[in-house]
Amino acid sequence: MRTETVEHPLAAALLTTLRDARTDNPSFRTALRDLTGILVYEALRDAPLHRFEVRTPVANTEGARLAAPPLLVPVLRAGLGMVEAAAELIPDARVGFVGIARDESTHQPVPYLESLPADLSDMPVFVLDPMLATGGSMRHTLELLAARGATDITAICVVAAPEGVAALADSGLPVRLITATIDQGLNADAYIVPGLGDAGDRQFGPR
Ligand code: URA
Repeated sequence: MRTETVEHPLAAALLTTLRDARTDNPSFRTALRDLTGILVYEALRDAPLHRFEVRTPVANTEGARLAAPPLLVPVLRAGLGMVEAAAELIPDARVGFVGIARDESTHQPVPYLESLPADLSDMPVFVLDPMLATGGSMRHTLELLAARGATDITAICVVAAPEGVAALADSGLPVRLITATIDQGLNADAYIVPGLGDAGDRQFGPR
């Protein structure tokens, strides 16, 4: 599996805002939105282009647009805070949804929503989930996508744990990972250390 950790001073500063326990919900949402923009930008670095002629006020020249805009799939609820930034950068993108809660005692994913196009065989997919912890939710999402024929999947995460990265690599599913950091590991509650806490609570308040 290809894994890219995005190294950029602005990404480092935004990640610090997200990590800081004093950051309030609105500031957290803003920093998550801005950092998502950087991660999506990197995820599209090698995206194929469709080239066509465009007329400027002065002359004709070559223009370009994405040949295949990805399907954006935020994993609810924490991925909600990433979808607006991604959709603004890729206005032609369609959006699907996967909802997965986590059982706080077993740490297992509990799926509750799936709203995806039936055929994904010709469509790149960007899965948006800020936290890759055990990898359970991401793996479930990848399996849903692969069952619909997806072969070109990018997982865009803000913080990844080595355990989650290994789970994706071991899954054999067609995925690459773009993240802002790979942290130390998981604690006994399956939270990423040092991480940033519960990414859903930090955006929207505790349930
Ligand atoms: N989900 C979160 O929101 N935070 C973690 O640290 C792990 C899973």
